[in-house]
Amino acid sequence: MQDFSKRGPRQTQLMAEAHRHMPQGVAENYRYWGDERTVFIDSSKGCWLTDCDGRRYVDFRLGYGPIILGYRDDRVDAAVVEQITQRGTLSGFATALDTEVVKQIKAMCPNIEKMRFANSGTEAVMGAVRTARGYTKRDRVVIVEGGFHGLYDEMMWKSDIEHWDPTGTAPPSVIPFGGGIPGQARELVELIVLNDMAMLDALFKQRGEQIACVVLEPIIGNAGSISATQTWLQRLRDLCTEHGAMLVIDEVKTGFRVAKGGAQELYGIHADLTTYAKAMGNGYPVAAFGGRAEVMDVVGSYKGGVVHGGTYTGNLVALSAAQATLKILDQTDALKTIDRVGAQIRDLLGRVFAAAGIEYAFAGPPAMFGIHFTSTVPTNYRDWRVTNSDLYRAFAWQLIDHGVMLEPDSREPWFICEAHQELDLGWLEEVATRSMKAACEGAARGER
Ligand SMILES: Cc1ncc(COP(=O)(O)O)c(C=O)c1O
Repeated sequence: MQDFSKRGPRQTQLMAEAHRHMPQGVAENYRYWGDERTVFIDSSKGCWLTDCDGRRYVDFRLGYGPIILGYRDDRVDAAVVEQITQRGTLSGFATALDTEVVKQIKAMCPNIEKMRFANSGTEAVMGAVRTARGYTKRDRVVIVEGGFHGLYDEMMWKSDIEHWDPTGTAPPSVIPFGGGIPGQARELVELIVLNDMAMLDALFKQRGEQIACVVLEPIIGNAGSISATQTWLQRLRDLCTEHGAMLVIDEVKTGFRVAKGGAQELYGIHADLTTYAKAMGNGYPVAAFGGRAEVMDVVGSYKGGVVHGGTYTGNLVALSAAQATLKILDQTDALKTIDRVGAQIRDLLGRVFAAAGIEYAFAGPPAMFGIHFTSTVPTNYRDWRVTNSDLYRAFAWQLIDHGVMLEPDSREPWFICEAHQELDLGWLEEVATRSMKAACEGAARGER
């Protein structure tokens, strides 16, 4: 029997050493879960992670979403190995593979006519926003409360939901995600509330002719998959068209996951520009942005063209991984399997919550669903604030202590990959039942 609740000896050692070499002892901020809890991974396979002390976890975090097939998928890895051993990793020149991958994406996503590559979601969003500005010759950018679009200064503004009083009438204040974000980066950014029709109409009435683009995740992968309604998203689409603003749909999390054609396929609504990353390469670092040919054609190295470049852009590790991953997603039943297993997992969790007498609501599609302890599905980020996120956190820590890895924050959805089909769902239901019981007992004792 593995004991997950205690700190492992190797974790203690690695954490202490890492502190001497990296701020907070981690390679990037979001991995730091406190000295006791920061997870050091030794290896991964399928839907399983093995930590540095040899403990195995079934993983629903999936590296924040990129793993769509499973860790170390043999089909993808073989394609990458062949590419880098037979051809190379990068040359700084064009290859036939560039066009091949774009053609694959176009076959899956009818919203794409032309495309450029990038190395991360952050870079893809930077590219899309700059292209929107270059095309419209406008500067103002609109984002949606609760969304996340990477580390680009202008995207690093959020509603201070933690310090907001949901019983009052004042809206949450807008703050930077952290230090080092210049105040000027806020000047051209507007925040709107998802599904708030009046706010949307008022913004376009007041500022419609100044807006270069609206950037959003229709299924907010960074707010527990709270989703836009069909009518609100359609209204946004229509207003963008009417006012000449670009609709930028950020499919970094939803792309090639919630459907072959991402969130846009589910809604039947097309963006002018779209960003992709994560599931596109099953964990290999690859990203892209693209959209209408007329819009994308402002990108180029001629005078006045929109600048886009990057030493590692379109490298062969990334593109061979994307080619192999997209082929599987397009030509096999992988996404159907993910939907089926995701729905089964949602159902079993629903049984667990109901048996424990907990009010719950799921948001988003089975491939990336959010769990909210509340009676009705939240319709925007402010609604999330009044869900019982403390109970969720306690439940999540219990799951982790029982060998189920996930982000202990209900704003991060449960990600499903094809390899989850191998999971013993009876075991998961049993573990979830025990974890919920322990979380409820902790809550009754006043623990947070
Ligand atoms: C919707 C969305 N856009 C952009 C990003 C940034 O992507 P990356 O971390 O690859 O820079 C993320 C990251 O989680 C994301 O969820």
